[in-house]
Amino acid sequence: MDVMEAIRSRRSIFKFKPEPVAKDVIARIFEAGIWAPNHHLTEPWRFVVIGEETKEILAQRYSEIQEAKAAAGASDEARKTLKDAGYAKFMSKPTIVAVVCLQDGDDIKKREDYAATCCAAQNVALAAWAEGVGMQWSTGPITLEDNTYKVLGIDPETEYTIGFFYTGYPVEVPQPRRKPLAEVLSWTD
Ligand SMILES: Cc1cc2nc3c(=O)[nH]c(=O)nc-3n(C[C@H](O)[C@H](O)[C@H](O)COP(=O)(O)O)c2cc1C
Repeated sequence: MDVMEAIRSRRSIFKFKPEPVAKDVIARIFEAGIWAPNHHLTEPWRFVVIGEETKEILAQRYSEIQEAKAAAGASDEARKTLKDAGYAKFMSKPTIVAVVCLQDGDDIKKREDYAATCCAAQNVALAAWAEGVGMQWSTGPITLEDNTYKVLGIDPETEYTIGFFYTGYPVEVPQPRRKPLAEVLSWTD
């Protein structure tokens, strides 16, 4: 698959086959991340692959977050349905990788390190796609909670999680939606 084909055909994947992505495949995919451009060669990215025990802890917490979305006055049964669905949803992501950027130094460095880590994330997503692995970038509340940082060993003083990358082999690929280029491209004299 050439670069343009990967860019155009890649989609966020929400439904995965159950099997996790093998460690060597994960390593190959994330290797693409470290070649992203980054100002002053700060190499600000960190990738944390979430293991089974940690995933269980986070799935429990995710289920509580989902339960808390119940309407005021919802029955215990309705709450439990939301909670169970939340647990099942989190556990259905075969492999989860937290993508983290360094956030130290002045505001410009922080902004540039965040930007570079986003470049790394897209490199990773394209490298994954080129070998049949799908991803969804998620910035849901669980990604930023204190307890999540704690269990993942992320220092909230100097690091920031740009997202969880739900990773696996796609069951279905959503249809792309984009405005035509002409709506966003302009030329000055
Ligand atoms: C910074 C960022 C955060 C995102 N967070 C979420 C998210 O929390 N939940 C979600 O469903 N998708 C999330 N996405 C994925 C977008 O919804 C997705 O990229 C968009 O719908 C376009 O679809 P495509 O990736 O298939 O082109 C995020 C994407 C980016 C770049």
